[in-house]
Amino acid sequence: MSIDDRIEDLLRRREMVLEGGGLDKVEKQHQKGKLTARERIYKLLDEDSFVEIDAYVEHRCIDFGMEKQRIPGEGVVTGYGTIDGRLVYVYAQDFTVLGGSLGEYHAKKITKIMDMALKMGAPLIGLNDSGGARIQEGVDALSGYGNIFFRNTLASGVIPQISVIMGPSAGGAVYSPALTDFIFMVDKTSQMFITGPQVIKAVTGEDVSAEELGGSITHSTKSGVAHFRAENDEECLKMVRKLLSYLPSNNLEDPPQLATDDDINRFSDRLIEIIPDSPNKPYDMKEVISEIVDEGVYFESQAMYAQNIITAFARLNGRTVGIIANQPKVLAGCLDINASDKASRFIRFCDAFNIPLLNIVDVPGFLPGTNQEYGGIIRHGAKMLYAYSEATVPKVTLIVRKAYGGAYLAMCSKDLGADFVLAWPTAEIAVMGPDGAANIVFKNEIKSSDDPVAARNEKINEYRENFANPYRAAARGYVDDVVLPQETRPRLISAFDMLMSKRESRPSKKHGNFPV
Ligand code: HXC
Repeated sequence: MSIDDRIEDLLRRREMVLEGGGLDKVEKQHQKGKLTARERIYKLLDEDSFVEIDAYVEHRCIDFGMEKQRIPGEGVVTGYGTIDGRLVYVYAQDFTVLGGSLGEYHAKKITKIMDMALKMGAPLIGLNDSGGARIQEGVDALSGYGNIFFRNTLASGVIPQISVIMGPSAGGAVYSPALTDFIFMVDKTSQMFITGPQVIKAVTGEDVSAEELGGSITHSTKSGVAHFRAENDEECLKMVRKLLSYLPSNNLEDPPQLATDDDINRFSDRLIEIIPDSPNKPYDMKEVISEIVDEGVYFESQAMYAQNIITAFARLNGRTVGIIANQPKVLAGCLDINASDKASRFIRFCDAFNIPLLNIVDVPGFLPGTNQEYGGIIRHGAKMLYAYSEATVPKVTLIVRKAYGGAYLAMCSKDLGADFVLAWPTAEIAVMGPDGAANIVFKNEIKSSDDPVAARNEKINEYRENFANPYRAAARGYVDDVVLPQETRPRLISAFDMLMSKRESRPSKKHGNFPV
């Protein structure tokens, strides 16, 4: 063959790979409202930055007539590129090619870039759209998944791993996303489940649609499996880029600092108005957050799940912080099983990736009830204590109103290693709220009084005046300073600046025993 023939041959091979499953399959993909694997990669990455790896990989299966099957790119497009100029590795399963099913070499393509991402210290993004294990390849396909799970675990805490679900993800295939840091789902076109509707019908008799069982709403509101939900592919890929803008590329780097036009000395009078005078009235903690952070912008993870706690990335003076805040609007901001799970995973992510923590506290306690106790609130709540105690990143706690009992500790009190604790004058820091405390401490006085109702109110007020304030805690140094609400932003920026050089070492061990 002449050189020209060889070049022509290469171009023809390239063309075949680019065609994927062919025009009719691409058309079908578009009809479902989905982009193709390559279209997704181009939208995700900076323009012209994608470099493909392993385009010519082929399977070696000879069962079920597979030796005659043409499977361009083995049903997955893999490679590297940049997002905002920073290196990332990406794989996108190609549903137009045998349903994006995962065979031995499809998996090898993915594990190759996982290994590279880990070596080079760059984020890994998986765009999932697949019928699962390639049935014709049997145990080799299962082994492929096993190899991916193993590497997901190795990479955990070293590089950010992001899973984007843009089609079906069924059976054990869902466990790779579950092992990664964040899961994005696209509304109506993505589903995740361990066993599908037909199997459920056969085993339990339940009738459930695929969407109800494992669609984006289910996983964003009920199960908490998904962290972000988007209307369509395009919006979803933009959200992935946004998330990455808050994160470092690996655990040895600091998150990127972005220039901000927001004044670091900005006072906010609005902060005085948000918290109602009555301690029992709810308000929206998100208003407090947006008054404090740069340009009022924050990016919420699991926004529709366990809404009694808020977990969000934001910036203060251009630097990323991870915010964990109670939401008095939902369940009065009580901590419960789901809120504890949501917060502790977020705290551990931030700690692994050098993202300082800002804890904004207004918590009346742990949610009471048999549901919570039987569900194991003891071990779930313990996750927050563990996660905060374990975290060595700068930890700043701001107590704006209630901080009672175990929940006060669980929201990162001084004793769990908060480096700086600020309180507003509206803070109430005590073992329990005035109503409950008066009933117990002054039980006999109330009982023997001529007017028990009046006596009780008097004792509640007495307790509130004496204990429901920040000064008892400040007197012992549990609170470092009581600040005016309006000066919160400059005070927080100053605290995080002061903590930038924080170094804290812990006893060496193989790993702790996190209370899962
Ligand atoms: C081989 C597969 C496949 C698979 C789909 N295809 N899934 N080929 N192995 N797992 C092929 C189809 O034969 C078809 O090929 C093409 O992909 C498109 O599939 P359709 O069925 O036409 O598409 P659609 O109607 O959109 O339905 C998509 C689907 C369905 C819901 C995903 O294909 C399906 O139910 N597939 C099987 C899912 C499954 O049970 N997977 C195994 C899960 S167990 P042609 O040639 O006609 O275009 C698992 C274990 C992992 O994954 C364990 C890890 C530990």
